[in-house]
Amino acid sequence: MSRFRALFASVCASLWLSGCSLWPAEDNPFTTVESSSDFSDAILGVYSLITWITCVVGVLVAILMVYVLIKFRDDGSPGNPEQVHGNTAMELGWTLIPVVLVIFMVVPTIRTIFEIADAAPDDAIEIRVVGKRWWWEFEYIEEGIITANEIHVPAGRPVNLLIESDSVIHSFWVPRLGGKRDAVPGRINRMWWTITDEVAAGETILYRGECAEYCGESHALMKFDVIAHDDAGYAEWLELMKAPPVVADAAVREAGEEAFAAGGCIGCHALTNIDGAVARIGPNLTRLGNRRMIASGTMENTTEHLASWIENQEEWKPGTSYNKLGDPRFDGMLIPVELSEQQVDALATYLSALQ
Ligand code: CUA
Repeated sequence: MSRFRALFASVCASLWLSGCSLWPAEDNPFTTVESSSDFSDAILGVYSLITWITCVVGVLVAILMVYVLIKFRDDGSPGNPEQVHGNTAMELGWTLIPVVLVIFMVVPTIRTIFEIADAAPDDAIEIRVVGKRWWWEFEYIEEGIITANEIHVPAGRPVNLLIESDSVIHSFWVPRLGGKRDAVPGRINRMWWTITDEVAAGETILYRGECAEYCGESHALMKFDVIAHDDAGYAEWLELMKAPPVVADAAVREAGEEAFAAGGCIGCHALTNIDGAVARIGPNLTRLGNRRMIASGTMENTTEHLASWIENQEEWKPGTSYNKLGDPRFDGMLIPVELSEQQVDALATYLSALQ
């Protein structure tokens, strides 16, 4: 009985370790075995084909091995067993069968590689993706919208991503939408996909993404969201992003803008509400209040988290250049200064109100 239990436990452990726990998608946003785009459909098709072929081969080989072990076991007869030298039929068989199997796997693989490397359709929405340390900048090229750590796209329409980096090599990865693509400084890598999930009117679907290439101490904290809308919802989002956010409460606005100026935030961050705030070293803060998460998909977007982030970003995300004296990227620029507790709170309240 205990041997059976040990066997059962080891089978469960292998299944768990081999990724069976990454299903279903609702509980496991980083699953790679549930596809939501044409791109990942293509990859999953090849993946399933190869998995099934190798499973069948594995089972047949195991059965054959068990048969040979039983049939040719030592039955106690005296002398050597029958000695066999050469068997043309078997040798041909074990050469040709693998060749045929490899052809069955290689042809669809190469076809898929060419398919996903094709140029994007002309009507694709172009988004420039820049991997930064340790967050993502997204620029809607035609619309002139720049945002961070959250891409909004319409389902059913092709999206063409032009992926690059301003720092080290990162890798853009949304497991349910497609494979990884390296973000390399000085080079643009492309990837395009169309979301195949149906989005109900007024609803959205969230896909989680992350950096998939080790890029330094906060690599694990470089996540982002892809939010799919229906066509009307996407058009609404574009309109929203083009209009500057309105902070109705004058006291909040004044205190926030005063803290923004005092902190030297303008040296790194863009914010359409403030004249001259156009820098692109840190994330664009326009409509920060509308984002689901802050700190690159790692903290829920609340005023408390924002205040804590402004004060202790090194604690939340080690190595963040913001506030780091001596970083060459700050040369000749405003250096952020220490803010008082009241100023931090005013700034967090103001940023939360930018919606
Ligand atoms: Cu960026 Cu890992």
